[in-house]
Amino acid sequence: MKVISLINQKGGVAKTTTAYALADGLSRRNRKVLVIDFDPQGSLTNALGLEDENVDDPQSLRFLELEKGMRAVPLNLTHNLAVITSDAGLERANDMLLTRIGRERYLRRAIEKLPDCIYDYVIIDSNPSLSVCTLNVIAASDEILIPFKPEFGSFKGIDLLLENVDAVRSIAPKKIGILGFVVTMADARRASTLQAVELMEERAEEIGSRVFKRHIRLAVAAADAPSYGKSIHDYAPNSNVAKDYEALCDEILAAVEA
Ligand SMILES: Nc1ncnc2c1ncn2[C@@H]1O[C@H](COP(=O)(O)OP(=O)(O)O)[C@@H](O)[C@H]1O
Ligand SMILES: [Mg+2]
Repeated sequence: MKVISLINQKGGVAKTTTAYALADGLSRRNRKVLVIDFDPQGSLTNALGLEDENVDDPQSLRFLELEKGMRAVPLNLTHNLAVITSDAGLERANDMLLTRIGRERYLRRAIEKLPDCIYDYVIIDSNPSLSVCTLNVIAASDEILIPFKPEFGSFKGIDLLLENVDAVRSIAPKKIGILGFVVTMADARRASTLQAVELMEERAEEIGSRVFKRHIRLAVAAADAPSYGKSIHDYAPNSNVAKDYEALCDEILAAVEA
């Protein structure tokens, strides 16, 4: 089982969109996938078309509270895809964990308590912040994917994020890799896009990581799919953005299963 998380404390960089597209792509490639929505905004839960069922049932919070014996059971969506949903209840997690010993290890522990061998991949969508919750996501990860919009100002937060990853690494019992950076909402007509990608490639190389070759293009289909509760692949299979995510998914699989 490999845990891959999508992290960037900046909002609106396509963490949720990429988490869904990747989970969907991996499940169609016959991998067993669990997605964990770890954002109190519950955008991934909503994009999966699940909003109303779970409003009073913050699964992701219960998932952390193992000691209370309230195990959250992943909801099976298809043969290969299951989800731990989220809602505003997860807001309480930060306060709850803040004063605890080993506070950054709760999510990892909860994942390790999952029945063995059921999932090939656990994909975690995280919230746009650098909080105890984010530290939990970092510590739970075998690999981290960082989606970013190639524009001025996108780099500011990334160094801070990398510092946090290093801090967690220094106390983590296992390897936490930065699998790579994903260029999202790319507009190739803009010179600033290419410039930003080049800068990011340099930065990635410095830390022994990579920028994935396939960029996800800016496209309305990506913005529309969530309101239909469909993956981008089901909503608009022939769109550029669906094709980009397919190619990215293959690239990620090649990197992670190499
Ligand atoms: N390639 C894309 N082209 C156009 N809009 C996109 C694309 N990817 C994501 N979006 C839209 O941009 C917004 C932010 O994306 P989202 O995945 O929610 O980001 P985050 O989870 O990082 O906050 C959403 O409305 C989403 O539908
Ligand atoms: Mg999100």
